[in-house]
Amino acid sequence: MNVNIDYEQIDLSKPAPIEEPQRQYYFIAKARKLVKELSEKAGRPLTYITQTFGCQMNARDSEKLTGILEQIGYIEETEEEKADFVIYNTCTVRENANQRVYGRLGQLQHVKKANPYMMIGLCGCMMQEPEVVEKLKKSYRFIDLVFGTHNIYKFAELIVTRLESERMVIDIWKDTDKIVEDLPSERKFSFKSGVNIMFGCNNFCSYCIVPYVRGRERSRDPKDIIREIEQLAADGVVEIMLLGQNVNSYGKGLKEPVTFAQLLEEIEKVDGIERIRFMTSHPKDLSDELIEVMAKSKKICKHLHLPVQSGSTRILEKMNRRYTKEHYLNLVDKIKKAIPDMSLTTDIIVGFPGETEEDFQETLDVVRKVRYDSAFTFIYSKRTGTPAAVMEEQIPEDVVKDRFDRLLKEVQSISSEVCSVHTGTVQKVLVESLNDHDSTLVTGRLSNNILVHFPGNEEMIGSIVDVKLHTCKGFYYLGEMV
Ligand code: 5AD
Ligand code: SF4
Repeated sequence: MNVNIDYEQIDLSKPAPIEEPQRQYYFIAKARKLVKELSEKAGRPLTYITQTFGCQMNARDSEKLTGILEQIGYIEETEEEKADFVIYNTCTVRENANQRVYGRLGQLQHVKKANPYMMIGLCGCMMQEPEVVEKLKKSYRFIDLVFGTHNIYKFAELIVTRLESERMVIDIWKDTDKIVEDLPSERKFSFKSGVNIMFGCNNFCSYCIVPYVRGRERSRDPKDIIREIEQLAADGVVEIMLLGQNVNSYGKGLKEPVTFAQLLEEIEKVDGIERIRFMTSHPKDLSDELIEVMAKSKKICKHLHLPVQSGSTRILEKMNRRYTKEHYLNLVDKIKKAIPDMSLTTDIIVGFPGETEEDFQETLDVVRKVRYDSAFTFIYSKRTGTPAAVMEEQIPEDVVKDRFDRLLKEVQSISSEVCSVHTGTVQKVLVESLNDHDSTLVTGRLSNNILVHFPGNEEMIGSIVDVKLHTCKGFYYLGEMV
């Protein structure tokens, strides 16, 4: 979405407005002027690259960063070494995500020495950790800009501060209750888009760092959400993905409380939107009302991502998930009864502190009973500051690795069986791209999120077509348009 602002008309001789988003429009105008001057000095256009780590929420945030960079006059570059502005939108949900960022920063330092116009920005979840910022201040002085998850809307203002001050700019907020609407964003796909419906998380699962780095749960006003979706539809978007850490608790803190199911019913009415997806659902909050709305909806996709994390009630309690194995399995039964062709996916952690072989067997039991279409499996990663990090009985690496391998094998063999049940049927498919390996093929997505490759061309991208699914190749199909 792009807001229609004539930045040239903004009077920069006046002080910056206090109100948002007007304040940010002012700084976008100011940054445009500064970037133009720099570009004239360099004798060439200046370029940027946005690198995103982590989840869909970060992917959406990156579209907002990209929107601002485009508005202030940077041009997209696809190679990091050639870009004048490199921004990393970081993730910290597992330790290896942090390590990857440090590794890449080391390489960028050399590139920066050779390019006087180069700036490096870091933002996202990892920056909300005080130890990270301390380390950057001490050992990574060549970084220009550091900000967190709560103030990305201020990106243009921070760039101006940096350009006017010639020093490392750091701006991290602990939390916020503010949601700034109507800022520019640049969509990665023309035909589908993520839409934030809420920010933050109040659940404090004992292994998870998200509540500490994304702050308390706050929902966007339904009117703002509908307005954004209407604009997206007018712009040619046919599929939207509603984003929140726990969409099932949407609306709780609003002045006029609304349930997630009610929000979905409103979104269903928007003409032009053909498919509605959402993530993530917490099993403890998934209501009967939501199942009913999904069952009768024509637009909500037949796919539910329902993270189980563990199959052992004992471990679920230590994880502070607030449901039992039985509650989860009953919920799955209820969903399958109401919507038989629903595809279910999940997240599973192995090696949580204190997990015994018996606990692990309970997880395998859930996997066999639910028969997931696919599952993201993770090795438990200790996150400093979370309750689980100081729990006794951290599990030895070799034991965890062995369980992880066994789990993966089980998940994969079940999912290839589950996936193949649609062989021979005709399904609606949203064409997303040309096939990466064979340009006579296109790649599309079924309502249940499975991919299918079939003969086609670039012009079909963004349209929904009928495809006969000929063969299943484990996680995807080969098919033909009918
Ligand atoms: N270690 C391993 N996996 C984790 N996740 C969240 N925190 C951790 C952690 N400390 C997983 C959960 C969550 C997914 C997004 O990441 O399974 O659902
Ligand atoms: Fe983390 Fe649990 Fe919140 Fe998901 S619901 S973001 S796992 S604390």
